[in-house]
Amino acid sequence: MDAAAVDPGKDIQTDGYGDFDFIVVSNRLPVDRVSGPDGESWRRSPGGLVTALAPVMAKADGAWVGWHGAPDETLDEFDHDNIHLRPVPLSADEVELYYEGFSNATLWPLYHDVVAPPEFHRTWWDAYRAVNERFAQAAAEIAAEGATVWVQDYQLQLVPQLLRKQRPDLKIGFFNHIPFPPMEIFAQLPWRRNIIAGLLGADLIGFQRSGDASNFLRCVRRFAGHTIRAQQVHVTAEDGTSHISRAEAFPISIDANQITELAQREDVVARSKQIRQELGDPDVVLLGVDRLDYTKGISHRLKAYGELLEDGRITVEGASLIQVASPSRERVEQYRLLREEVEGTVGRISGTFDTISNTAIRYLHHSYPVEEMVALYLAADVMLVTALRDGMNLVAKEYVAARTNNSGVLVLSEFAGAADQLRQAVLVNPHDIDGLKDAIVTAMQMPDREAQRRMRLMRRQVLQNDVERWSQDFLTALRNTEDA
Ligand code: G6P
Repeated sequence: MDAAAVDPGKDIQTDGYGDFDFIVVSNRLPVDRVSGPDGESWRRSPGGLVTALAPVMAKADGAWVGWHGAPDETLDEFDHDNIHLRPVPLSADEVELYYEGFSNATLWPLYHDVVAPPEFHRTWWDAYRAVNERFAQAAAEIAAEGATVWVQDYQLQLVPQLLRKQRPDLKIGFFNHIPFPPMEIFAQLPWRRNIIAGLLGADLIGFQRSGDASNFLRCVRRFAGHTIRAQQVHVTAEDGTSHISRAEAFPISIDANQITELAQREDVVARSKQIRQELGDPDVVLLGVDRLDYTKGISHRLKAYGELLEDGRITVEGASLIQVASPSRERVEQYRLLREEVEGTVGRISGTFDTISNTAIRYLHHSYPVEEMVALYLAADVMLVTALRDGMNLVAKEYVAARTNNSGVLVLSEFAGAADQLRQAVLVNPHDIDGLKDAIVTAMQMPDREAQRRMRLMRRQVLQNDVERWSQDFLTALRNTEDA
């Protein structure tokens, strides 16, 4: 798309550069459209990334490039909450091929240990490339000379190289929010060399875990012919230009202050008590909070929980599980299948174990505002995070941040990035159902002193390493990257 045609001259100065010194590029813009009595308006999306970057944006003449979430609609640039937004349009076909297809039915399962089979279609790849070009073009048009551009996540892995070709003056960062797979799995991708070359356009490539960075470097060694020294790749492009691209771990975090403040607000605390009462006041409330995604291990969790009830190790009077599963990618086949499976299992557990006054499981297929989420965290004695593979898992960190009195136990999958930092959680391998059952019982029966000791250490970790620190660390490292 040609921005100049939409809004002539606004961001294109006569020197050929745009106005913005700091640009974030992500598949989605950090706003949601809401309709109210006065018509439609925009609201800032929940989530740490925008909270962390909003102040940087305000200070540094910042802009955000992304899709606004609706197909077949071209919007002009606009400002919202002191952030300049540059919408990138996607046609309905592109939503199907680039977003649902290549991003979420090829890359997503491939990068999450192939827990669902990835599909490889050339038409999807073509759309991915075309859409990545459009995002790169939009960023190139609005970036001032020497600007910093920070590209986010797996949907846009070609953007760094495309941008560098057009605008070698830019500092380019990339952050991968999801895991980067082992070389043997990545090797399945027919376009593996293109993806590696795309990422290597960045001066700094950030990953969640150091294991992801080393997986990536192994793929570089195998599928690109560049010299690698420690974490630095000496990239020589086809046109003979060269630069250094650095791969390193920067574990993302949450807006810990926001969560702790909410956790101390009277109405939120009152709501958490009400939640427990309405569940029939069980001795132990367990909680799961996930996007309804097959990587989250929801079925494994339900299997373990159902068996515990069956074995009589827990009872419906003594325990209740709240499972929030927010709707996600509902037009993608694997997500439809998962929903059917999960809802079938929930129905069976409820049908078998519920009584008129007690529920074994309260399943909620909704998204909730952050206030309600924090009330749920406060209501839960045990938080279950049983992902089969997860880049980080911010829910685990939010639970920890919310437990201001240091009570509560976190059961955490060792396959979530958060397990690298939250070492005092009850760590589990969710594939080991017996182990998971024992871990749930251990968590439910953990003596208060022991639970407090663990939670205190985890809270220190999360409060010291919040999302603001994460973005500062990344941007400082990006500023300090060397030129070749
Ligand atoms: C993950 C990805 C994000 C994505 C989010 C929601 O956290 O890393 O890039 O935005 O899921 O998924 P959606 O497909 O709705 O954008």
